[in-house]
Amino acid sequence: MFRRLKSCHSVADMRLLAKQRLPGPIFHYIDGAADDEVTYRRNTQAFDECDLVPNVLTGVENVDMSVTVMDVKLDMPIFCSPTALQRLFHHDGERAVARAAEKFGTMFGVSSLGTVSVEEIGRMIQCPKMFQFYFHKDRALNDAMIARAKEAKFEVLALTVDSITGGNRERDLRTGFTSPPRLTLAGLVSFALHPRWAVNYYTHEKFELSQLKDYVKEGSNIAVSISDYFSTMLDQSLSWKDAEKVRHDWGGQFCLKGVMSVADAQRAVDIGASAIMVSNHGGRQLDGARSPFDQLSEIVDAVGDKIDVILDGGIRRGTHVLKALAAGAKACSGGRMYLYALAAAGQPGVERALGKMRTEIERDMKLMGVKNVSQLSRDMLRFRSTRIDERN
Ligand SMILES: Cc1cc2nc3c(=O)[nH]c(=O)nc-3n(C[C@H](O)[C@H](O)[C@H](O)COP(=O)(O)O)c2cc1C
Repeated sequence: MFRRLKSCHSVADMRLLAKQRLPGPIFHYIDGAADDEVTYRRNTQAFDECDLVPNVLTGVENVDMSVTVMDVKLDMPIFCSPTALQRLFHHDGERAVARAAEKFGTMFGVSSLGTVSVEEIGRMIQCPKMFQFYFHKDRALNDAMIARAKEAKFEVLALTVDSITGGNRERDLRTGFTSPPRLTLAGLVSFALHPRWAVNYYTHEKFELSQLKDYVKEGSNIAVSISDYFSTMLDQSLSWKDAEKVRHDWGGQFCLKGVMSVADAQRAVDIGASAIMVSNHGGRQLDGARSPFDQLSEIVDAVGDKIDVILDGGIRRGTHVLKALAAGAKACSGGRMYLYALAAAGQPGVERALGKMRTEIERDMKLMGVKNVSQLSRDMLRFRSTRIDERN
């Protein structure tokens, strides 16, 4: 079926439009995950095993869905997680997502593997900005990235801790996906079948990894798989001491992205982090890892009064956001929920995705009988099956 943006009403619709418009290797880089993709699927399925119990007759004509997380106020309780290589998905890349996030008053995360500079993003938008930091072997590069994000007035630094080595993304192995795209015969055929993408990619500003290009050629000029990039360029000796030093050097709101265990959540508190993103990188790293929503309650119970807990990953619906907030998350974040839309239609696509999400959250809050996010609570949730933590 031939699709257009106007006929997209959900993340699933946007995914199909992205699939239609992108060369196969690029679509599968966004859509794929590690090994058998069990964790990736579970990240969303976990929400389906939890039911909402609404209250009625509560007078919900005015609903306030704003949240404050890491000292920044967001007009909606979900923000755009940092994701790599956005100008590969759509020629406007981060510029499109940044402007859409600003329009909806939410936070925009820029990746270390971003394709527009933090300086440009800093000048472009007034909404809260997160810089996602990968700890490289090259300490001069690390220092430069932190200094640049600070100078560009980013409010939050998120150190990603779940990517110490590359996940086994077999779809990328099969398609031969690299950054920048390597011109193989199969790749050329795929580009020829998607001429609009190919013309846009080759007629717009040259692809680069803007935060890295002055230090490394890999990823901007030398084609590498992202998995190889993680495994060769990032520092696998990264420790809690290093994380504490990064927090100190940054000096502002600091978040650990990819914390999954209670013990690590407690250590995040100990090193003075402002927040943790409970995340498994959208299932792209350790397949078999528990889903963020399954793991959320025990982390909130342990550290929720000491640190902001953010649920990252698997969110495709407004009700997913409500379930996470009811379980105790301060806010949610997501990647594919806006990435398919970016790939499908640039800024209007991301605006449509965030707009649909906002409308769903507002409608769902009214149907739940809550006027603001703090009225969502655990007694509004029922889990269908016995969960592992309840069996123990
Ligand atoms: C295409 C793609 C690229 C990503 N790039 C990064 C990245 O550069 N840094 C990072 O910390 N996380 C990255 N992530 C993970 C996201 O920040 C987020 O954790 C994940 O997308 C959440 O799962 P969801 O897509 O189901 O919402 C990426 C995810 C995707 C799908």
